[in-house]
Amino acid sequence: MSETLRFPDQRPTEYIKLDGEPIFNASKHLQLENPDKVVSLQALGYSSDDIKTCPSDFGVSSAFRILSDEGLAIIRDICLKMYDNRNISVGTGVNRLGSYVRGAGYRSKFIKDFCDSPELAQHLSAMAGTKLARHSVPAVACGVNYAPEDLRRAVDSWHTDSVAYDIVMMLSDPHTLDGGEFQYFHGTKTEGQDILGISGEEGIDTELPEDRIVTVPFPAAGYGFMQQGNMIFHRARKLNKRAERMTMIPSFVVVPAHVDDGTNSVNMAGWDDPGLPAELTRHEAWRAAARLGQLVDTVSLHDSPKRLVEDMDKALAPLLAYRDRLAKDIN
Ligand SMILES: [Fe+2]
Repeated sequence: MSETLRFPDQRPTEYIKLDGEPIFNASKHLQLENPDKVVSLQALGYSSDDIKTCPSDFGVSSAFRILSDEGLAIIRDICLKMYDNRNISVGTGVNRLGSYVRGAGYRSKFIKDFCDSPELAQHLSAMAGTKLARHSVPAVACGVNYAPEDLRRAVDSWHTDSVAYDIVMMLSDPHTLDGGEFQYFHGTKTEGQDILGISGEEGIDTELPEDRIVTVPFPAAGYGFMQQGNMIFHRARKLNKRAERMTMIPSFVVVPAHVDDGTNSVNMAGWDDPGLPAELTRHEAWRAAARLGQLVDTVSLHDSPKRLVEDMDKALAPLLAYRDRLAKDIN
């Protein structure tokens, strides 16, 4: 049984379900290889105290093969079909991203099953140094980014992610692209944010010093890299020439559910994708229930009232922070 939260039975009405898809088969559609290079958080300048708050020291990898030729052809076809039902075109709001699909798993069972694949999770877990499973928030479990119609705009400007681990998978032939490179800042996120004069997770489209920017090359479509995205300050540059540039960004949670995970529901509460408030509520309730379960198992009759209050606060804090953020919107 999967260790992550099951996918919801319902679907936001704005999302159109694709029919007649092939059935996902890991042995046919995946071709998992290892990256040549992994950069740790420590190598990026994070202190041991910073790293202690993260599930692992994994920072960012080079691109490695993920999809077989057949898997790539199917996913490309699905993403081209979903383009007309992308989030921006259904009135779900413009944000940092130019053009994107969130919650691809609602539209495509093939993509849902790909993101849910235990083979993929196992492969990435070994690389990340912590146990990962498909993200419990469907909006981010499988996102797709398209190049914006406006060439002057970055595909995605400098930011960190609201989830801890994600892969960025190239679905277009990278050799046909002029511009559109994926880049990260070789340093800590606060250093990068300080240089740009921003705070928080959302990006700004300005320049960082050239010698601190690393471009992640994609050898071909079907390759992707993994990052601890909430710790890596990154962007996708604008295209110099109009071209098809599609990437898929599957995200992952750290399991078991009682352990700390970098998912930032408070930030995601500001996005306006359909169903997202309920998705985040499910996610936070799931994690809080698991933490309370741990508390039931570990509480001692010898614990002081101070310790008991602290333990209860710790178990409930992320759920309540999200609850308070959501409550602000209704007042
Ligand atoms: Fe990102």
